[in-house]
Amino acid sequence: MAALIFADSEDLFQAAAKDFADKAMGLLSKKKLLNIALSGGSTPKDFFKVLAQQKIPWEKVRFFFVDERYVPGDNPENNYHMADQYLFSKISIPRENIYPIPTEFKDPEEAAREYELILHKAFGVKSHEIPKFDIIYLGLGDDGHTASLMPFNKLIFKKHQLVAADWVSKLNMYRITLTPTIINHSDNIIFMATGANKAPAVSAVLEGKYEPDQYPAQLIDHTQGKTIWYLDQAAANLIKD
Ligand code: 6PG
Repeated sequence: MAALIFADSEDLFQAAAKDFADKAMGLLSKKKLLNIALSGGSTPKDFFKVLAQQKIPWEKVRFFFVDERYVPGDNPENNYHMADQYLFSKISIPRENIYPIPTEFKDPEEAAREYELILHKAFGVKSHEIPKFDIIYLGLGDDGHTASLMPFNKLIFKKHQLVAADWVSKLNMYRITLTPTIINHSDNIIFMATGANKAPAVSAVLEGKYEPDQYPAQLIDHTQGKTIWYLDQAAANLIKD
């Protein structure tokens, strides 16, 4: 597990945005399109503000979503809505390069199946194959969740599923989420966590007993060189080594 620790969140987001630019230019020297998956919540907002200032050929980047709150796209709670406000509306990216998770189906399960079809089509892979993202950005809840893989959610998905729908009672809403099966298939996984309120979860996930029911972020592959944690000092405060 690699953790990069920064004095404050501003330094963290500047470094993460520069890392994105470096990775993007490196990858684009070998491939035509970059496939990136974004998480929602509040942490990415400041990251997106800095990312939008990077000199990137955005027409060669496609953005997908790690998860979505099951509310309409014009609802401020919606992750696509937030990414559009802080990133997409600030860069020259063709709208067809953005792949929101659908939230207009009556049955959230149908939305999950639809997003799987969207992913398979966009990546040009067969239904039994797993699309491979170039970079997946993940956050960490102070309860140890990531994406919308919530504690004690009885691991709502079956191994072969790439996208799952889950009723999250404490949020009184459905969430649609990528599953560890597809997240762990990514070449690069970047966690970002800031603030003292995340310190206990960071420490439990990275150094605690393996209890993925309690800490679903432990379901993510932490192999060196694949997953990097961007932490500010406050969030890293309880890490022992
Ligand atoms: C979401 C995210 C979620 C988020 C964590 C951390 O839809 O809310 O995908 O997994 O990354 O809850 O959220 P904050 O960045 O707001 O602390």
